[in-house]
This record gives sequence, C-alpha cells and structure tokens, in this order.
Amino acid sequence: MKKNARLLIIVLLTGVFNMCSNSNKTSAENNDNSDAVSSEIVLPSPSKDGKVSVEKALQERRSIRRFKDTPLSLGIVSQMMWAAYGTTNERGFKTTPSAGAIYPLEFYVAISKVEGIEAGLYKYNSLHHKLKLIKSGDLRKDLSEASLGQSCIKNASFIIIFTAVFGSIKLRYGNRGIQYTHNEVGHAGQNIYLQAVSLNIGTVVVGAFVEEKVKAVLDLKDNQSVLYMMPVGQK
Ligand SMILES: Cc1cc2nc3c(=O)[nH]c(=O)nc-3n(C[C@H](O)[C@H](O)[C@H](O)COP(=O)(O)O)c2cc1C
Repeated sequence: MKKNARLLIIVLLTGVFNMCSNSNKTSAENNDNSDAVSSEIVLPSPSKDGKVSVEKALQERRSIRRFKDTPLSLGIVSQMMWAAYGTTNERGFKTTPSAGAIYPLEFYVAISKVEGIEAGLYKYNSLHHKLKLIKSGDLRKDLSEASLGQSCIKNASFIIIFTAVFGSIKLRYGNRGIQYTHNEVGHAGQNIYLQAVSLNIGTVVVGAFVEEKVKAVLDLKDNQSVLYMMPVGQK
C-alpha cells in the first residue's frame, strides 16, 4: 500500500512536470512564431538583370532631393536594400566590398510611404533578405529635425540608414578599421545611387545630421554609430 502510494505520487508529479514543460515550450514557440509572423517581412527577390547599363547609370547619377508624394513598392525597397548590402554568394559576400570581409555595417530602413508595409523602423537582414520591424510609426519628422530640417528626409517614401559597429573591424585593423568602415559606406552609397537611376527614382546621401539625435530617434545602442542616411522617393 505504502509502495503503491509512493508510485502514484511519482506518476502524478511526472505528469504535472510534463504538462508544465510542454505548456512552457508551446507558449515560447507560439511567441516566437507570432513574432516572426508579425514583425518579419521576407522581401521579394531582387532582380539581377536591369535594363540600364552601368555606364548610363554613372552618367545619369545625380543627387535628387525633391520627391513626389507617390508611394513606392516593396519591390523597390527590396532592390535598394539588395544594392546596398545584399548577399551575393554562399560565403556571405555582398554587393559592397568590405575590408577582410568583416562587414561592419548594419542597415536600417525607416519606411513611411511604401505599398503593403506599415510605417516603421526596420532592420535589414542581408543573409535572408528580410526586414525586421524594430518600431512602428512614421519617423520622418523626427529624422528631419535631427538632420537640420532637411526636406528630402521629410518627404521621402523611405530612408535607408547606414550604421556601423566598429568592434570587430577595430580588433582586426586597429584605428584603421574605422577608416575602412567609412570607405565601405561610400561603396554602399554609390551602389544605392546607381540602383536608383536604374529604377528611375531619386535619392541623395545625407551626412549633415546630429548623430546623437538620430540615435535617439532610432533607439540605437551606445556601440552603434550612424554614418549616412539616404532618403528615397519618386522623382
Ligand atoms: C559626405 C557627403 C555628405 C553629404 N551630405 C549631404 C546632405 O546632408 N544633404 C544633401 O542634400 N546633400 C548632401 N550630399 C550630397 C552633395 O551635396 C552632392 O553629392 C553634391 O552637391 C554633388 O551633386 P551630385 O551628387 O548630384 O553629383 C553629401 C555628399 C557627401 C559626399
């Protein structure tokens, strides 16, 4: 009898433990899934074959600061992010060259008027060509104020934001790693300019901003630096 009672208690406790662990697992998985569904956007596949030659794009490239109010498509966001920092081979190499293939840049996009996607700040995942929602809302007014009131920021359809984390590249190259990161920003910026010509849309590099203010708008961490912004819109 005593032995049976002990056995019963063990069976009951095991059942309760399993129920608890299963329900915890399910709830965590559900949270993960709902996060993935609600906050991750798989971008349409970028085209690898445009109709505008490199030479024509170089000839036509211009800084465009005035945009129409027309919303752009998610396909255009996809193409522009791919041009900036898209992954182009199985080793993780990208459209932009990087010293030691360290890739210290991180790209955000502040979306305001794009069909099929809510306004908000998104982080670009280059490997999976996805966007992850960081925070909702139209950030143009705040970003424009942080950029000396520049109207190209206020009227953009979306704004590509170049940030960097210097830790890894400084470990490898010391202070020269900082220069290499700025070199890399230039490469990515030119990619975006040329892609914009090919898509018949406008963009401009914006370097005139108060970095601490932009960081505050984007809720960035101390180790993240903001190096450039490129507002994009229909010209
Ligand atoms: C480092 C850097 C910072 C710049 N910052 C701004 C800026 O804050 N706002 C702006 O309207 N243009 C900015 N520009 C764009 C230049 O004004 C532009 O490239 C220049 O006038 C030449 O015109 P183009 O690009 O049409 O050939 C910047 C360019 C560079 C290279």
